[in-house]
Amino acid sequence: MLNDQTREELWRRLIEVIENYLTKIDSERVAPELDIEKIRAALAGRDFAEPVGAVEALDFVAGAMWRFQVHTGHPRYFGLFNPASTTMGIAADALVAAFNPQLAAWSHSPFAAEVEQHLVRAFGQKFGYDLSGADGVFTSGGSEANHTALLTALARAFPEFSEHGLRALTAQPVFYISSQGHHSFLKAARASGLGAAAVREIPVDDDLRMDVGALTDRIKRDRVEGFRPLMIVATAGTTSAGVIDPIGDLAGIAAREEAWFHVDAAWGGAAAFVPELRAALGGIEKADSITFDAHKWLSAPMGAGLYLTRHPEILKRTFGVATSYMPRDAAGLGVVDPFTYSIQWSRRFIGLKVFMSLLVAGWEGYAEAIRHQAAMGDHLRGRLQDSGWAVVNRTPLPVVCFVDRALREGAAAEYLGAVCKSVVASGEAWISIARIGDDDRPVLRACVTSYRTEASDVDALVESLNRARIREGGRSVRSGSEAI
Ligand SMILES: Cc1ncc(COP(=O)(O)O)c(C=O)c1O
Repeated sequence: MLNDQTREELWRRLIEVIENYLTKIDSERVAPELDIEKIRAALAGRDFAEPVGAVEALDFVAGAMWRFQVHTGHPRYFGLFNPASTTMGIAADALVAAFNPQLAAWSHSPFAAEVEQHLVRAFGQKFGYDLSGADGVFTSGGSEANHTALLTALARAFPEFSEHGLRALTAQPVFYISSQGHHSFLKAARASGLGAAAVREIPVDDDLRMDVGALTDRIKRDRVEGFRPLMIVATAGTTSAGVIDPIGDLAGIAAREEAWFHVDAAWGGAAAFVPELRAALGGIEKADSITFDAHKWLSAPMGAGLYLTRHPEILKRTFGVATSYMPRDAAGLGVVDPFTYSIQWSRRFIGLKVFMSLLVAGWEGYAEAIRHQAAMGDHLRGRLQDSGWAVVNRTPLPVVCFVDRALREGAAAEYLGAVCKSVVASGEAWISIARIGDDDRPVLRACVTSYRTEASDVDALVESLNRARIREGGRSVRSGSEAI
Protein backbone atom coordinates (compact mmCIF):
# COMPACT_ATOMS: atom_id res chain seq x y z
CA MET A 1 0.00 0.00 0.00
CA LEU A 2 1.38 3.42 -0.90
CA ASN A 3 1.90 5.87 1.94
CA ASP A 4 0.12 9.22 2.16
CA GLN A 5 3.03 11.24 0.84
CA THR A 6 3.59 9.00 -2.19
CA ARG A 7 -0.10 9.03 -2.96
CA GLU A 8 -0.18 12.78 -2.86
CA GLU A 9 2.83 13.00 -5.19
CA LEU A 10 1.24 10.49 -7.51
CA TRP A 11 -2.04 12.39 -7.78
CA ARG A 12 -0.20 15.65 -8.37
CA ARG A 13 1.87 14.08 -11.15
CA LEU A 14 -1.19 12.33 -12.62
CA ILE A 15 -3.03 15.63 -12.97
CA GLU A 16 0.06 17.22 -14.52
CA VAL A 17 0.35 14.35 -17.01
CA ILE A 18 -3.33 14.50 -17.99
CA GLU A 19 -3.34 18.28 -18.30
CA ASN A 20 -0.14 18.18 -20.33
CA TYR A 21 -1.66 15.59 -22.64
CA LEU A 22 -4.87 17.51 -23.19
CA THR A 23 -3.16 20.84 -23.83
CA LYS A 24 -0.22 19.67 -25.94
CA ILE A 25 -1.70 16.86 -28.00
CA ASP A 26 -2.72 19.20 -30.86
CA SER A 27 0.90 19.91 -31.76
CA GLU A 28 1.94 16.25 -31.82
CA ARG A 29 1.74 13.59 -34.52
CA VAL A 30 -1.72 12.02 -34.69
CA ALA A 31 -0.45 8.49 -35.30
CA PRO A 32 2.60 6.74 -33.90
CA GLU A 33 5.27 4.87 -35.78
CA LEU A 34 4.30 1.20 -35.68
CA ASP A 35 7.52 -0.21 -34.30
CA ILE A 36 6.87 -3.40 -32.41
CA GLU A 37 10.57 -3.83 -31.59
CA LYS A 38 10.73 -0.51 -29.75
CA ILE A 39 7.62 -1.32 -27.72
CA ARG A 40 8.87 -4.78 -26.80
CA ALA A 41 12.27 -3.36 -25.92
CA ALA A 42 10.61 -0.84 -23.61
CA LEU A 43 8.70 -3.68 -21.92
CA ALA A 44 11.59 -6.12 -21.83
CA GLY A 45 13.15 -4.70 -18.70
CA ARG A 46 9.86 -4.63 -16.83
CA ASP A 47 9.94 -8.07 -15.23
CA PHE A 48 8.42 -6.98 -11.86
CA ALA A 49 11.45 -8.31 -9.98
CA GLU A 50 12.45 -4.88 -8.65
CA PRO A 51 9.52 -2.65 -7.72
CA VAL A 52 9.78 0.91 -9.04
CA GLY A 53 8.44 4.13 -7.55
CA ALA A 54 4.82 5.12 -8.18
CA VAL A 55 5.69 8.31 -10.05
CA GLU A 56 8.32 6.47 -12.11
CA ALA A 57 5.72 3.86 -13.11
CA LEU A 58 3.27 6.57 -14.08
CA ASP A 59 5.84 8.46 -16.14
CA PHE A 60 6.92 5.28 -17.91
CA VAL A 61 3.39 4.39 -18.95
CA ALA A 62 2.34 7.92 -19.87
CA GLY A 63 5.47 8.37 -21.98
CA ALA A 64 4.84 5.11 -23.80
CA MET A 65 1.20 5.96 -24.47
CA TRP A 66 2.25 9.32 -25.87
CA ARG A 67 4.59 7.56 -28.29
CA PHE A 68 2.71 4.42 -29.19
CA GLN A 69 -0.92 5.29 -29.70
CA VAL A 70 -3.17 6.82 -32.31
CA HIS A 71 -4.33 9.95 -30.51
CA THR A 72 -8.08 9.74 -31.02
CA GLY A 73 -8.50 12.95 -29.04
CA HIS A 74 -6.42 14.84 -31.59
CA PRO A 75 -8.40 17.43 -33.59
CA ARG A 76 -6.93 15.96 -36.79
CA TYR A 77 -7.99 12.41 -35.99
CA PHE A 78 -10.62 11.87 -38.71
CA GLY A 79 -11.14 8.28 -37.79
CA LEU A 80 -13.46 5.58 -36.72
CA PHE A 81 -16.07 6.77 -34.26
CA ASN A 82 -13.57 7.27 -31.42
CA PRO A 83 -13.91 10.72 -29.98
CA ALA A 84 -11.90 13.06 -27.79
CA SER A 85 -12.91 12.29 -24.20
CA THR A 86 -14.92 14.94 -22.36
CA THR A 87 -13.13 16.46 -19.39
CA MET A 88 -16.02 15.46 -17.12
CA GLY A 89 -15.84 11.95 -18.48
CA ILE A 90 -12.17 11.71 -17.53
CA ALA A 91 -12.97 12.96 -14.03
CA ALA A 92 -15.88 10.52 -13.75
CA ASP A 93 -13.76 7.52 -14.76
CA ALA A 94 -11.19 8.47 -12.11
CA LEU A 95 -13.94 8.76 -9.48
CA VAL A 96 -15.39 5.42 -10.50
CA ALA A 97 -12.00 3.75 -10.16
CA ALA A 98 -11.57 5.26 -6.70
CA PHE A 99 -15.06 4.61 -5.27
CA ASN A 100 -15.38 1.40 -7.28
CA PRO A 101 -19.14 0.97 -6.98
CA GLN A 102 -20.29 -2.53 -7.77
CA LEU A 103 -23.11 -2.47 -10.33
CA ALA A 104 -24.34 -6.01 -9.79
CA ALA A 105 -26.69 -5.69 -6.82
CA TRP A 106 -28.73 -2.49 -6.49
CA SER A 107 -28.25 -2.40 -2.73
CA HIS A 108 -24.45 -2.21 -3.03
CA SER A 109 -24.52 0.95 -5.12
CA PRO A 110 -28.02 2.43 -5.02
CA PHE A 111 -26.97 5.90 -6.18
CA ALA A 112 -25.02 4.53 -9.13
CA ALA A 113 -27.85 2.18 -10.11
CA GLU A 114 -30.40 4.99 -9.93
CA VAL A 115 -28.17 7.35 -11.96
CA GLU A 116 -28.08 4.75 -14.74
CA GLN A 117 -31.84 4.21 -14.63
CA HIS A 118 -32.31 8.00 -14.70
CA LEU A 119 -30.14 8.15 -17.83
CA VAL A 120 -31.98 5.24 -19.43
CA ARG A 121 -35.22 7.18 -19.06
CA ALA A 122 -33.64 10.42 -20.30
CA PHE A 123 -32.17 8.79 -23.42
CA GLY A 124 -35.32 6.75 -24.00
CA GLN A 125 -37.30 9.98 -24.03
CA LYS A 126 -34.86 11.64 -26.42
CA PHE A 127 -35.37 8.78 -28.87
CA GLY A 128 -39.13 9.20 -28.56
CA TYR A 129 -39.99 6.31 -26.26
CA ASP A 130 -42.99 6.60 -23.99
CA LEU A 131 -41.53 7.21 -20.53
CA SER A 132 -43.75 4.65 -18.84
CA GLY A 133 -42.30 1.86 -20.99
CA ALA A 134 -38.68 2.89 -21.60
CA ASP A 135 -36.16 0.53 -20.14
CA GLY A 136 -32.56 -0.37 -20.78
CA VAL A 137 -29.12 -1.12 -19.51
CA PHE A 138 -25.60 0.23 -19.91
CA THR A 139 -23.23 -2.01 -21.83
CA SER A 140 -19.51 -2.15 -22.54
CA GLY A 141 -20.25 -0.77 -26.00
CA GLY A 142 -22.28 -1.15 -29.15
CA SER A 143 -21.30 -4.76 -29.73
CA GLU A 144 -22.70 -5.87 -26.39
CA ALA A 145 -25.82 -3.77 -26.96
CA ASN A 146 -26.35 -5.41 -30.36
CA HIS A 147 -25.79 -8.81 -28.84
CA THR A 148 -28.36 -7.92 -26.17
CA ALA A 149 -30.80 -6.93 -28.90
CA LEU A 150 -30.51 -10.32 -30.56
CA LEU A 151 -30.96 -12.17 -27.27
CA THR A 152 -33.99 -10.12 -26.29
CA ALA A 153 -35.50 -10.67 -29.74
CA LEU A 154 -35.05 -14.41 -29.28
CA ALA A 155 -36.51 -14.34 -25.76
CA ARG A 156 -39.55 -12.46 -26.98
CA ALA A 157 -40.22 -14.55 -30.07
CA PHE A 158 -39.56 -17.89 -28.41
CA PRO A 159 -40.57 -18.15 -24.74
CA GLU A 160 -38.96 -21.61 -24.66
CA PHE A 161 -35.57 -20.28 -25.84
CA SER A 162 -34.36 -19.21 -22.38
CA GLU A 163 -34.92 -22.64 -20.91
CA HIS A 164 -34.38 -25.03 -23.78
CA GLY A 165 -32.23 -23.07 -26.23
CA LEU A 166 -32.27 -23.14 -29.99
CA ARG A 167 -32.92 -26.87 -30.26
CA ALA A 168 -36.41 -26.29 -28.90
CA LEU A 169 -37.32 -23.93 -31.75
CA THR A 170 -39.55 -25.20 -34.50
CA ALA A 171 -38.06 -22.95 -37.19
CA GLN A 172 -34.54 -21.62 -37.75
CA PRO A 173 -34.58 -17.88 -36.88
CA VAL A 174 -32.85 -15.50 -39.29
CA PHE A 175 -32.37 -11.76 -39.13
CA TYR A 176 -31.84 -8.95 -41.60
CA ILE A 177 -29.29 -6.16 -41.78
CA SER A 178 -27.94 -4.17 -44.69
CA SER A 179 -24.66 -5.20 -46.29
CA GLN A 180 -23.25 -2.02 -44.70
CA GLY A 181 -24.30 -2.94 -41.15
CA HIS A 182 -21.88 -3.58 -38.31
CA HIS A 183 -20.10 -6.91 -38.03
CA SER A 184 -20.87 -7.21 -34.32
CA PHE A 185 -24.10 -8.85 -35.49
CA LEU A 186 -22.08 -11.68 -37.00
CA LYS A 187 -20.42 -12.23 -33.64
CA ALA A 188 -23.78 -12.01 -31.88
CA ALA A 189 -25.19 -14.61 -34.28
CA ARG A 190 -22.30 -16.93 -33.52
CA ALA A 191 -22.33 -16.36 -29.77
CA SER A 192 -26.09 -16.85 -29.54
CA GLY A 193 -25.86 -20.21 -31.28
CA LEU A 194 -27.81 -19.05 -34.34
CA GLY A 195 -24.69 -19.13 -36.46
CA ALA A 196 -23.43 -16.55 -38.94
CA ALA A 197 -25.58 -18.02 -41.71
CA ALA A 198 -28.63 -16.64 -39.88
CA VAL A 199 -27.49 -13.12 -40.79
CA ARG A 200 -29.19 -12.03 -44.01
CA GLU A 201 -27.15 -9.24 -45.53
CA ILE A 202 -29.53 -7.19 -47.63
CA PRO A 203 -28.17 -5.21 -50.60
CA VAL A 204 -28.27 -1.43 -50.56
CA ASP A 205 -29.53 1.20 -52.98
CA ASP A 206 -27.41 3.86 -54.70
CA ASP A 207 -27.35 5.88 -51.48
CA LEU A 208 -26.06 2.85 -49.53
CA ARG A 209 -29.37 2.51 -47.63
CA MET A 210 -30.95 -0.89 -47.16
CA ASP A 211 -32.95 -1.75 -50.29
CA VAL A 212 -36.50 -2.18 -48.98
CA GLY A 213 -37.62 -4.21 -52.00
CA ALA A 214 -34.70 -6.60 -51.62
CA LEU A 215 -35.57 -7.00 -47.94
CA THR A 216 -39.19 -7.91 -48.57
CA ASP A 217 -38.18 -10.35 -51.34
CA ARG A 218 -35.70 -12.04 -49.04
CA ILE A 219 -38.24 -12.33 -46.22
CA LYS A 220 -40.75 -13.87 -48.62
CA ARG A 221 -38.18 -16.38 -49.81
CA ASP A 222 -37.14 -17.23 -46.26
CA ARG A 223 -40.74 -17.86 -45.23
CA VAL A 224 -41.26 -20.18 -48.19
CA GLU A 225 -38.09 -22.05 -47.21
CA GLY A 226 -39.27 -22.43 -43.61
CA PHE A 227 -37.07 -19.87 -41.88
CA ARG A 228 -38.47 -17.57 -39.22
CA PRO A 229 -37.77 -13.83 -39.71
CA LEU A 230 -36.76 -12.89 -36.20
CA MET A 231 -35.39 -9.36 -36.38
CA ILE A 232 -34.81 -6.49 -38.76
CA VAL A 233 -31.90 -4.18 -38.01
CA ALA A 234 -31.80 -0.62 -39.29
CA THR A 235 -28.44 1.08 -39.04
CA ALA A 236 -28.55 4.77 -38.18
CA GLY A 237 -25.08 5.87 -39.22
CA THR A 238 -23.23 3.04 -40.94
CA THR A 239 -19.64 2.56 -39.89
CA SER A 240 -18.10 3.08 -43.31
CA ALA A 241 -20.27 5.82 -44.76
CA GLY A 242 -22.47 7.26 -41.99
CA VAL A 243 -25.61 6.41 -43.93
CA ILE A 244 -29.01 6.10 -42.26
CA ASP A 245 -31.30 3.27 -43.39
CA PRO A 246 -34.98 4.09 -44.13
CA ILE A 247 -35.96 3.56 -40.50
CA GLY A 248 -39.69 4.29 -40.88
CA ASP A 249 -40.10 1.87 -43.81
CA LEU A 250 -38.18 -0.86 -42.02
CA ALA A 251 -40.27 -0.34 -38.87
CA GLY A 252 -43.40 -0.89 -40.98
CA ILE A 253 -42.07 -4.11 -42.49
CA ALA A 254 -40.99 -5.41 -39.08
CA ALA A 255 -44.45 -4.72 -37.65
CA ARG A 256 -46.13 -6.52 -40.58
CA GLU A 257 -43.79 -9.50 -40.27
CA GLU A 258 -44.04 -9.57 -36.46
CA ALA A 259 -40.28 -9.32 -36.31
CA TRP A 260 -38.28 -7.49 -33.63
CA PHE A 261 -37.17 -4.10 -34.91
CA HIS A 262 -33.74 -2.97 -33.75
CA VAL A 263 -32.01 0.29 -34.63
CA ASP A 264 -28.24 0.26 -34.37
CA ALA A 265 -27.73 3.96 -33.71
CA ALA A 266 -24.37 3.40 -32.02
CA TRP A 267 -22.90 6.53 -33.53
CA GLY A 268 -25.65 8.30 -35.52
CA GLY A 269 -28.13 8.23 -32.63
CA ALA A 270 -26.64 11.50 -31.43
CA ALA A 271 -28.52 13.20 -34.28
CA ALA A 272 -31.63 12.81 -32.08
CA PHE A 273 -30.30 15.52 -29.77
CA VAL A 274 -30.12 18.19 -32.47
CA PRO A 275 -33.52 19.49 -33.64
CA GLU A 276 -32.44 20.06 -37.25
CA LEU A 277 -30.93 16.54 -37.56
CA ARG A 278 -33.67 14.72 -35.63
CA ALA A 279 -35.82 14.14 -38.73
CA ALA A 280 -33.08 11.94 -40.21
CA LEU A 281 -33.90 9.37 -37.50
CA GLY A 282 -37.67 9.48 -38.10
CA GLY A 283 -39.24 6.18 -36.96
CA ILE A 284 -36.61 5.31 -34.35
CA GLU A 285 -39.29 5.65 -31.68
CA LYS A 286 -40.92 2.54 -33.16
CA ALA A 287 -37.84 0.41 -32.50
CA ASP A 288 -38.26 -2.49 -30.12
CA SER A 289 -34.68 -1.78 -29.10
CA ILE A 290 -31.94 0.73 -29.82
CA THR A 291 -28.16 0.60 -29.53
CA PHE A 292 -26.55 3.88 -28.63
CA ASP A 293 -22.89 4.42 -27.70
CA ALA A 294 -22.05 7.36 -25.49
CA HIS A 295 -18.38 6.59 -26.20
CA LYS A 296 -18.89 7.57 -29.79
CA TRP A 297 -20.55 10.90 -30.53
CA LEU A 298 -21.13 11.89 -26.89
CA SER A 299 -17.38 11.74 -26.34
CA ALA A 300 -17.51 9.65 -23.19
CA PRO A 301 -14.26 7.79 -22.54
CA MET A 302 -14.28 4.21 -23.86
CA GLY A 303 -16.66 1.66 -22.48
CA ALA A 304 -20.06 3.39 -22.49
CA GLY A 305 -22.76 1.70 -24.54
CA LEU A 306 -26.48 1.67 -24.03
CA TYR A 307 -29.20 -0.80 -24.92
CA LEU A 308 -32.68 0.74 -24.81
CA THR A 309 -36.01 -0.97 -25.24
CA ARG A 310 -39.70 -0.18 -25.06
CA HIS A 311 -40.45 -3.60 -23.57
CA PRO A 312 -39.97 -3.19 -19.83
CA GLU A 313 -40.13 -6.90 -19.02
CA ILE A 314 -37.74 -8.19 -21.67
CA LEU A 315 -34.33 -7.69 -20.06
CA LYS A 316 -35.36 -9.55 -16.94
CA ARG A 317 -36.87 -12.32 -19.04
CA THR A 318 -33.60 -12.62 -20.98
CA PHE A 319 -31.03 -12.30 -18.21
CA GLY A 320 -32.85 -12.68 -14.90
CA VAL A 321 -31.45 -15.38 -12.61
CA ALA A 322 -31.90 -15.90 -8.88
CA THR A 323 -29.04 -16.88 -6.58
CA SER A 324 -28.63 -17.23 -2.85
CA TYR A 325 -25.26 -15.49 -2.74
CA MET A 326 -26.32 -12.11 -4.12
CA PRO A 327 -27.41 -9.53 -1.53
CA ARG A 328 -31.16 -9.25 -1.07
CA ASP A 329 -31.15 -6.06 0.99
CA ALA A 330 -33.24 -4.25 -1.62
CA ALA A 331 -35.95 -6.90 -1.86
CA GLY A 332 -39.36 -5.28 -1.81
CA LEU A 333 -38.10 -1.82 -2.82
CA GLY A 334 -39.27 -2.26 -6.40
CA VAL A 335 -35.80 -1.65 -7.86
CA VAL A 336 -33.71 -3.43 -10.47
CA ASP A 337 -30.58 -5.40 -9.63
CA PRO A 338 -28.35 -4.57 -12.62
CA PHE A 339 -26.95 -8.13 -12.87
CA THR A 340 -30.44 -9.38 -13.76
CA TYR A 341 -30.53 -7.03 -16.75
CA SER A 342 -27.23 -7.71 -18.40
CA ILE A 343 -24.80 -10.18 -19.93
CA GLN A 344 -22.34 -8.77 -17.38
CA TRP A 345 -22.38 -9.56 -13.68
CA SER A 346 -19.91 -7.48 -11.67
CA ARG A 347 -19.47 -4.32 -13.61
CA ARG A 348 -18.26 -0.78 -13.26
CA PHE A 349 -20.38 2.35 -13.04
CA ILE A 350 -20.50 2.99 -16.79
CA GLY A 351 -23.14 5.70 -16.63
CA LEU A 352 -21.22 8.18 -14.48
CA LYS A 353 -19.08 9.54 -17.31
CA VAL A 354 -22.26 10.16 -19.31
CA PHE A 355 -24.10 11.66 -16.32
CA MET A 356 -21.33 14.07 -15.34
CA SER A 357 -20.69 15.11 -18.94
CA LEU A 358 -24.39 15.79 -19.44
CA LEU A 359 -24.73 17.62 -16.12
CA VAL A 360 -22.09 20.12 -17.17
CA ALA A 361 -22.72 20.41 -20.95
CA GLY A 362 -26.51 20.00 -20.83
CA TRP A 363 -28.39 18.76 -23.88
CA GLU A 364 -27.82 22.14 -25.47
CA GLY A 365 -24.06 21.90 -25.02
CA TYR A 366 -24.06 18.55 -26.77
CA ALA A 367 -26.37 19.83 -29.52
CA GLU A 368 -23.90 22.63 -30.17
CA ALA A 369 -20.95 20.22 -30.38
CA ILE A 370 -22.80 17.84 -32.72
CA ARG A 371 -23.98 20.73 -34.88
CA HIS A 372 -20.41 22.02 -35.07
CA GLN A 373 -19.12 18.60 -36.16
CA ALA A 374 -21.85 18.32 -38.81
CA ALA A 375 -20.79 21.77 -40.08
CA MET A 376 -17.14 20.64 -40.14
CA GLY A 377 -18.28 17.65 -42.24
CA ASP A 378 -19.88 20.04 -44.73
CA HIS A 379 -16.73 22.16 -44.76
CA LEU A 380 -14.67 19.05 -45.50
CA ARG A 381 -16.95 18.06 -48.39
CA GLY A 382 -16.58 21.54 -49.87
CA ARG A 383 -12.80 21.65 -49.49
CA LEU A 384 -12.38 18.17 -50.98
CA GLN A 385 -14.50 19.03 -53.98
CA ASP A 386 -12.54 22.26 -54.54
CA SER A 387 -9.34 20.20 -54.62
CA GLY A 388 -10.52 17.67 -57.18
CA TRP A 389 -11.65 14.89 -54.86
CA ALA A 390 -15.11 13.40 -55.42
CA VAL A 391 -17.38 12.75 -52.45
CA VAL A 392 -19.22 9.49 -53.03
CA ASN A 393 -21.56 9.10 -50.05
CA ARG A 394 -24.67 11.05 -49.07
CA THR A 395 -25.45 11.67 -45.41
CA PRO A 396 -26.24 14.67 -43.21
CA LEU A 397 -23.70 13.28 -40.73
CA PRO A 398 -19.99 14.11 -40.83
CA VAL A 399 -18.58 10.96 -42.45
CA VAL A 400 -17.06 11.73 -45.83
CA CYS A 401 -16.10 9.01 -48.31
CA PHE A 402 -14.16 10.14 -51.34
CA VAL A 403 -11.97 9.19 -54.27
CA ASP A 404 -9.68 11.20 -56.49
CA ARG A 405 -11.42 12.62 -59.51
CA ALA A 406 -8.29 14.42 -60.71
CA LEU A 407 -6.60 11.16 -61.65
CA ARG A 408 -7.57 8.41 -63.99
CA GLU A 409 -6.58 5.79 -61.39
CA GLY A 410 -8.05 7.91 -58.57
CA ALA A 411 -10.57 5.28 -57.45
CA ALA A 412 -8.17 2.32 -57.55
CA ALA A 413 -7.62 0.48 -54.28
CA GLU A 414 -3.85 0.57 -54.60
CA TYR A 415 -3.71 4.31 -55.16
CA LEU A 416 -6.21 5.14 -52.38
CA GLY A 417 -4.37 2.82 -50.01
CA ALA A 418 -1.08 4.58 -50.79
CA VAL A 419 -2.63 8.02 -50.23
CA CYS A 420 -4.13 6.91 -46.92
CA LYS A 421 -0.85 5.41 -45.75
CA SER A 422 1.03 8.51 -46.77
CA VAL A 423 -1.28 10.85 -44.83
CA VAL A 424 -1.15 8.66 -41.72
CA ALA A 425 2.63 8.21 -41.94
CA SER A 426 3.09 11.98 -42.19
CA GLY A 427 1.55 12.29 -38.71
CA GLU A 428 -0.44 15.28 -39.98
CA ALA A 429 -3.86 13.60 -39.78
CA TRP A 430 -5.47 10.19 -39.45
CA ILE A 431 -7.88 8.86 -42.04
CA SER A 432 -8.75 5.36 -43.18
CA ILE A 433 -9.75 3.24 -46.12
CA ALA A 434 -13.26 1.80 -46.19
CA ARG A 435 -15.13 -0.38 -48.61
CA ILE A 436 -18.65 0.64 -49.45
CA GLY A 437 -21.61 -0.69 -51.41
CA ASP A 438 -22.44 -4.26 -52.37
CA ASP A 439 -19.40 -4.31 -54.65
CA ASP A 440 -17.08 -3.35 -51.79
CA ARG A 441 -15.49 -0.47 -53.67
CA PRO A 442 -12.61 1.22 -51.87
CA VAL A 443 -12.84 4.82 -50.73
CA LEU A 444 -10.93 7.15 -48.49
CA ARG A 445 -12.92 7.85 -45.33
CA ALA A 446 -12.69 10.84 -43.03
CA CYS A 447 -15.04 11.36 -40.11
CA VAL A 448 -15.18 14.48 -37.97
CA THR A 449 -15.22 12.62 -34.71
CA SER A 450 -13.58 15.08 -32.32
CA TYR A 451 -15.53 18.02 -30.90
CA ARG A 452 -12.19 19.86 -30.99
CA THR A 453 -11.87 19.75 -34.80
CA GLU A 454 -11.95 23.23 -36.33
CA ALA A 455 -12.01 24.46 -39.93
CA SER A 456 -8.21 24.90 -39.81
CA ASP A 457 -7.84 21.18 -38.96
CA VAL A 458 -10.06 20.24 -41.90
CA ASP A 459 -7.99 22.51 -44.16
CA ALA A 460 -4.81 20.85 -42.86
CA LEU A 461 -6.23 17.42 -43.73
CA VAL A 462 -7.06 18.47 -47.28
CA GLU A 463 -3.60 19.98 -47.72
CA SER A 464 -2.08 16.76 -46.41
CA LEU A 465 -4.20 14.77 -48.88
CA ASN A 466 -3.16 17.02 -51.75
CA ARG A 467 0.50 16.55 -50.86
CA ALA A 468 0.00 12.78 -50.59
CA ARG A 469 -1.65 12.75 -54.01
CA ILE A 470 1.43 14.31 -55.54
CA ARG A 471 3.75 11.92 -53.68
CA GLU A 472 1.74 8.83 -54.57
CA GLY A 473 1.67 8.94 -58.30
CA GLY A 474 -0.31 12.11 -58.80
CA ARG A 475 2.58 13.92 -60.42
CA SER A 476 0.45 14.14 -63.53
CA VAL A 477 -2.42 15.65 -61.54
CA ARG A 478 -4.64 17.81 -63.61
CA SER A 479 -7.10 20.40 -62.44
CA GLY A 480 -10.68 19.33 -61.71
CA SER A 481 -11.92 20.64 -65.05
CA GLU A 482 -9.41 18.51 -66.98
CA ALA A 483 -10.25 15.43 -64.99
CA ILE A 484 -11.69 12.34 -66.57
C1 LIG B 1 -22.85 1.12 -36.35
C2 LIG B 1 -22.02 0.47 -35.29
N1 LIG B 1 -22.59 -0.43 -34.47
C3 LIG B 1 -21.89 -1.06 -33.50
C4 LIG B 1 -20.57 -0.79 -33.30
C5 LIG B 1 -19.79 -1.52 -32.24
O1 LIG B 1 -19.62 -0.67 -31.14
P1 LIG B 1 -18.47 -0.93 -30.07
O2 LIG B 1 -17.18 -0.75 -30.78
O3 LIG B 1 -18.77 0.14 -29.06
O4 LIG B 1 -18.65 -2.29 -29.52
C6 LIG B 1 -19.93 0.16 -34.13
C7 LIG B 1 -18.50 0.49 -33.92
O5 LIG B 1 -17.95 1.34 -34.56
C8 LIG B 1 -20.67 0.80 -35.13
O6 LIG B 1 -20.10 1.68 -35.96
